[in-house]
Amino acid sequence: MSVVIAPSLLSCDFLNIEKELNHFKDFKNTWFHLDIMDGHFVPNLTFGPPIVKMISKKSTLPLDAHLMVKNPKFLIDNLADCNVHNLTFHIEATNDALELIKYAKKIFPSVGVSLRPGTPLEVLSDDVLKAINLILVMSVEPGFGGQAFIETTYEKLTDLFHLKKALNPNLMIQVDGGVSDKNAKKLVDHGVSNLVAGSYIFKDGPASYAKKVESLRS
Ligand code: DX5
Ligand code: ZN
Repeated sequence: MSVVIAPSLLSCDFLNIEKELNHFKDFKNTWFHLDIMDGHFVPNLTFGPPIVKMISKKSTLPLDAHLMVKNPKFLIDNLADCNVHNLTFHIEATNDALELIKYAKKIFPSVGVSLRPGTPLEVLSDDVLKAINLILVMSVEPGFGGQAFIETTYEKLTDLFHLKKALNPNLMIQVDGGVSDKNAKKLVDHGVSNLVAGSYIFKDGPASYAKKVESLRS
């Protein structure tokens, strides 16, 4: 199956967001990745439900919300009518991940959990691993685009692949941070089926979006 590519709108031209969305109109297996930051869980602040709702009205692609917030329940409730396809929250932001997953699953077609680079896989119970649709392995410290990929991510992915096989074969493994044509193939070889990329896709402008997206799949 083809790898899903999720351009991170954090790196797009926000003053021309409708135009930016349209550049990806006919792309297959492509999601828009939306980085929602609250200035507390991470030292950066982006946008929230009203903007996501506007984006949803103009987007022809599935929306992938990555919550980098201290209170994920609040955002889950407020994103309920924003046509989000996948909702991912950080495991570090909750004491009862399973409860939150069950709650979010009533609202969104797909629910994921994310781990900071320093958070070990051991924090995930078997029940959590079985309940989620997606796991987002951060390959940079969450908060900003344009950072360098952390190489120890591969070790985590190798361990995760075994857990996936044993507990949840349909689990989608997503990687976010420092993804480019330099590491995409190696990531896919490590079992990744969803690649988020911000600066790599957007940095040279719209004429190269299609080429950049495809370069991550091959
Ligand atoms: C970082 C965000 C990423 C970011 C990735 O906290 O979660 O989605 O946009 O940007 P690049 O691809 O530039 O590392
Ligand atoms: Zn992200």
